[in-house]
Amino acid sequence: MRPYLSSVMRILSGIQPSGKLHIGNYFGMMRPALELAQKGEAFYFIADYHAMTSITSSDELRQNVLDVALDFLACGLDPNRTVFYRQSDVPQVTELTWILSNVTPLPMLENAHSYKDKIAQGLKPNAGLFTYPVLMAADILIVQGERVPVGKDQKQHLEIARDIAGAFNRQYSEVFVIPEADIRPDVATLPGIDGRKMSKSYNNTIEIFGDEKAAKKKVMSIVTDSQPVEAPKKDLDNNIPLQLYKLVAPVDKARELEARLATGGYGYGEVKKELQAALTDYFAPFRQKRTELVKNLDYVHEVLRKGGDRANAVASETMAKVRLAVGLK
Ligand code: ADP
Ligand code: TRP
Repeated sequence: MRPYLSSVMRILSGIQPSGKLHIGNYFGMMRPALELAQKGEAFYFIADYHAMTSITSSDELRQNVLDVALDFLACGLDPNRTVFYRQSDVPQVTELTWILSNVTPLPMLENAHSYKDKIAQGLKPNAGLFTYPVLMAADILIVQGERVPVGKDQKQHLEIARDIAGAFNRQYSEVFVIPEADIRPDVATLPGIDGRKMSKSYNNTIEIFGDEKAAKKKVMSIVTDSQPVEAPKKDLDNNIPLQLYKLVAPVDKARELEARLATGGYGYGEVKKELQAALTDYFAPFRQKRTELVKNLDYVHEVLRKGGDRANAVASETMAKVRLAVGLK
């Protein structure tokens, strides 16, 4: 086990196993997280307690956890560098959640956009969904995470985590590091095929490991404006196929394609075909890796078990301080 390196930057992030991962997850969270992991000691986990707010089938939850583990490893997570674990393997987070609930003002949770959005989408307004941000704060604070790579939709949750950490430190003693969100402006909110934020809940995603035919159909149905083929295209900053193409194509090819659109005589159908091909090329090595990992599930379970042990050790250290600070010890 790697020792606890307190002088090294602690990075933490989580992803819910609530459905198939998409390229918004990859470019908004996973790729920045994988890059950041090179600069410090990263803790990345599969937020299975959080997923209980939307998934009620036990088989589905189990399967999704395995899928996210496979996806993240296939996308390049190196378990020798990064502590990769399943949230529920660190059950101390639920104890910390309870403790933090007592320094969390109710209006802060009532004002959470994510809670309001989820209710609007038809999720049951139960206490789990309502206290979701407190559990998220506990995830971060229990490993003393300093930097948290996420997409823009998690910004408010990070502000809540900071507020909770500050409230605890003021009420008791300076136990927690105040975490900071790490949101890349260029990929903060990737658009989906309908132009809204790409999200599992909007059914507008392009999956990373989805069926090729289905992906092609989705790419061809991306919304675009109605400028005719021959027109020199305007407003290219808001052109979704081009925006996605820039992420997956080599820089010179992306420039060339943008120039062709700006000149005119080049239609969006062609751009979508180029995009489809570039997506396939970009994700091909990840697909290959995933196929290999599927043949070795014992290895994947072992990675999570070891990661769970390492995260547990750090969580126990924090909880000893917390219990002492609040008078439970
Ligand atoms: P979804 O909205 O599809 O349910 P999640 O809430 O599970 O996605 O998000 C997992 C991570 O991916 C979070 O850090 C989130 O901010 C990021 N993310 C999700 N969708 C996007 C997007 N369209 N653009 C950028 N980042 C995203
Ligand atoms: N709420 C995050 C999401 O839906 C997942 C998550 C849970 C998380 N705990 C976290 C992200 C802690 C960062 C840090 O994407």
